[in-house]
Amino acid sequence: MDTIANPPRSTALITGASSGVGYELTVRLLREGWDVVAWMRSEVPDHDPVVAAARASGRLRSDRVDLADPVGLAAALDRVRSRERSIDLVVNNAALSLAQAQPGPSGRDVHFDVNVLSPYAITTALLPCVAASEHKTILNVASNALLSVKQFSLAELVHPTRFKKLFGPYAASKLALALWTHELARALPPDVELRSVCPGPSDTPMTRGPGMPRWLGMLVPLPLLFPHPRRGADRLHAAGLGAHRGERGVFIHRDRVTPLPWLAQAPAVLAAVRDIHARSFPVRPGQDVRPRDSDPG
Ligand SMILES: NC(=O)c1ccc[n+]([C@@H]2O[C@H](COP(=O)([O-])OP(=O)(O)OC[C@H]3O[C@@H](n4cnc5c(N)ncnc54)[C@H](OP(=O)(O)O)[C@@H]3O)[C@@H](O)[C@H]2O)c1
Repeated sequence: MDTIANPPRSTALITGASSGVGYELTVRLLREGWDVVAWMRSEVPDHDPVVAAARASGRLRSDRVDLADPVGLAAALDRVRSRERSIDLVVNNAALSLAQAQPGPSGRDVHFDVNVLSPYAITTALLPCVAASEHKTILNVASNALLSVKQFSLAELVHPTRFKKLFGPYAASKLALALWTHELARALPPDVELRSVCPGPSDTPMTRGPGMPRWLGMLVPLPLLFPHPRRGADRLHAAGLGAHRGERGVFIHRDRVTPLPWLAQAPAVLAAVRDIHARSFPVRPGQDVRPRDSDPG
């Protein structure tokens, strides 16, 4: 009798899968039959039976990674590339919004290293795995806070001299992320899709944390303004796998493609992020992706 081969399962890598929007997206994809590779410093909590079952069966594979540490991140990238044959969907979701600027292991501010540089390192390192997959999609989780940025300087973001909760380095980091996403998307193989998305306000450890301005933090318990993070996860799902398929480099906010401020800065932001990445991460063959326009000749 002929055996019918099982169809290959789709695989997502989600950073920041231990809480909030990333956790809810992890649960949703596991329920839909995906394999999920989950990255964070802690662990995906087991309180939903689907998580426990997926962990036991090997469909949920987690790794502890501190995205502020380029050395640890490079090692995690090596591990995942040796273990996963292909990755259909990468969701660069992990981020932090602190109550003050804070240098990380690199000496740069952690808002830059975690929210801007680590998604670039992950995107470029995993490009061959994504290109070998069916869905070929990378989502960078930005924020509508980027629409509020009035002054923008990447140098100021890397080593801040001023600080404002949410509307300072955090908002600037999300703008830098969306700008390099816009620029890099033009350089990728035509069938690989890269875009940025805002999940919308959600009641999560981040919005309940000390990095929120006091007046805004007081509104977080109001579910009409800050709904359950499932809502944000649904928005990421739609941006990655739904109506926006085929769109590259765009920023999706409230389920619509939304113009980015400071767009003229996008090539310079990508060039600076690429330069810092090259100085911080070991270079590996096939990872140096340049916009076609900037190629000499
Ligand atoms: N919630 C909102 O209202 C809102 C609005 C707009 C945009 N966003 C964006 O949506 C995304 C998810 O936010 P959320 O509200 O769901 O936040 P959250 O609940 O605080 O989750 C953040 C996740 O990032 C991980 N993380 C933080 N620092 C890390 C590090 N150094 N290395 C590795 N992982 C790290 C955390 O895991 P560990 O602590 O285990 O490392 C956690 O899983 C973020 O990109 C955020 O900027 C959120």
